[in-house]
Amino acid sequence: MSHSELNIIVLAAGKGTRMKSSLHKVLHPVAGKSMIHHLLDSVNQLGPHDLTLVIGSNKEQLKSAVPNVNYAEQNEQLGTGHAVMMARDFFRNKNGDTLVLYGDVPFIPKDVMEKMITARHRDLQGKKPAMVVLGFEAEDPGKYGRLILSPDGTLEKIVEYKDAREEEKAITLCNSGMMIFDTKKLDEMLDHLSNDNAAREYYLTDLVEIARSKEEIVAVTMATEDDVMGVNSRSDLAVAESVFQNKLRQKAMDEGVTLVDPSTVYFSADTEIASDVTIEPNVFFGTKVKISSGCVIKANSHIEGTTIGEDAQIGPFARLRPGTHLDDKTKIGNFVETKKTYLGTGSKINHLSYIGNAEVGQNVNIGAGTITCNYDGFNKYKTMINDGVFIGTNTSLIAPVSIGSDAMTAAGSVIDKDIPAEALAIERTKQVNKEKMAVKFMAKAKAKAKKDKK
Ligand code: UD1
Ligand code: MG
Repeated sequence: MSHSELNIIVLAAGKGTRMKSSLHKVLHPVAGKSMIHHLLDSVNQLGPHDLTLVIGSNKEQLKSAVPNVNYAEQNEQLGTGHAVMMARDFFRNKNGDTLVLYGDVPFIPKDVMEKMITARHRDLQGKKPAMVVLGFEAEDPGKYGRLILSPDGTLEKIVEYKDAREEEKAITLCNSGMMIFDTKKLDEMLDHLSNDNAAREYYLTDLVEIARSKEEIVAVTMATEDDVMGVNSRSDLAVAESVFQNKLRQKAMDEGVTLVDPSTVYFSADTEIASDVTIEPNVFFGTKVKISSGCVIKANSHIEGTTIGEDAQIGPFARLRPGTHLDDKTKIGNFVETKKTYLGTGSKINHLSYIGNAEVGQNVNIGAGTITCNYDGFNKYKTMINDGVFIGTNTSLIAPVSIGSDAMTAAGSVIDKDIPAEALAIERTKQVNKEKMAVKFMAKAKAKAKKDKK
C-alpha cells in the first residue's frame, strides 16, 4: 500500500513505573528485539512515512536506540492528548493521515494498521471519517477506555475507566489507544482538548466527542486482543514473550522445521532456520543465528551469533557464541564452546573443548579437551588450523599459533610454536615406568594410616 502522506506518532514518553527498571520500558526485549523495534519493523512495512517519537523519561536511551526520526519532547506526562500536542510541530502544515501508536503496544500487525488506513478513506454516511479508532473485545476489560457506539455503528465517545459509570464499565468493547486521523482535522481538534476529568489529563480519547461536535464521523476498526497487547510490567513482558515465542515456533514448523518439543525451544525474532532442520528439546537461540537445511540441533544447546551450513550436527550441550561459522557437514559435540571461529567443511569438535578466535580448515578433527589459549588478559590472539589436521586429546594451543595441513599434535601437548605441514608435534615429558613401585607405595601409605590411627 502506498500513501501520499502518512505521519506516524509513537507515544513513548511515559515512565513505565511498573517495570521498576532503569531501562526505558519500550527498550525491553521480546525474543531478543526491543519492543520499540518490533513496532518500528511493522511500521516500516507500511511504506514511506514520517515518524515522530514522543519522548520524556529516559529520552537519551530512546534517542540512541532509535536514531534518525523526529523527536517531540514531552517533559511532563499530562496525558495521551497532551503527548500528541507536543508532536504538533511535525504535522501542523501537512496533509494526509496521522496514525497514533503506543510504544508499549509492540505487536500490532501491519495489516491491522493498513485496515485503519483503509477505513479512514472509506465513505461512511457519504463522507470519510475524520478519525478511526482501533477497538477490541477485551476478555477482561479492566481499566481500558470503553467505546460507546451510536445506533448507526459509528463511535459516539470513549469513556475512560476512571470516569465511567457502572453500566459503561460493563461494556467489553475497548479502546486499544491506536487511532488514525485526517491530519488537518487533528490539528484543529487538538485546540479543543481540556483536562477537565477525573485524572486531570488531556485525554486523546476526548477527540471523539470533539469530532462529533464538528459534525464529523468517527469510525471503529477491530483488532484482536493479542494484536493490541500492551506491556506495563515484568509479568506482561513474560506474557508477551510467551505469546511471541509461540508464534515463532509455529512459523518454524510451518516452514518445515521439526521441533520435537516446541514449548522448550526459544527463538529470537531474527532466527533463520531452513526446512528439514530438526531441533531437539531445550534449545535457546540468541540473536543473529542462521541454520541451513539438514542440520540437527541436539538437546540443551545455546546458540547465538552463529551461521551453520548444511547437514551439520550440533550438541547435545553445545555452546556456540557470536562469530561462529560452521560449514557443511561439521560436527560439534557435547560441552564444546566456540567463539569467533570458522570451521571448514567436514570438520569435527566432538567433546569438551573451547575453540575461540580460530580458523579451522576442512576435515580437521579436534580431540576431546582441546583448548585454544587465546587471551592473555588484555589481547586476543588467533589460532590457525589448516586442512586435514588431527589435534590430539587435551592439547593446549597457545595463540598466536598456526598448524600446517595434515599435521598432528600428540595428546596432552602444550603447543606454542607453529607446526609445519604433515609434522607430528609432541610436547610432554617422557614416561618412566618404575617396576613394582605402585605396590610398595601403597604398602607404605597403608602402614602410615594405621600408625596415625593409634
Ligand atoms: C489509554 C487510553 C485508554 C485505552 C488505553 C489502552 C487515553 C486517555 N486513554 O489509557 O482509553 O484503553 O490507553 O492501553 O488515551 N503517554 C505519553 N505521554 C503521556 C501519557 C501517556 O507518552 O502524557 C504514552 C505512554 O508512554 C503509553 C501510552 O501513551 O505508551 C498510553 O499511556 P497510558 O498512560 O498507558 O494510557 P492509559 O491510561 O492506559
Ligand atoms: Mg496503559
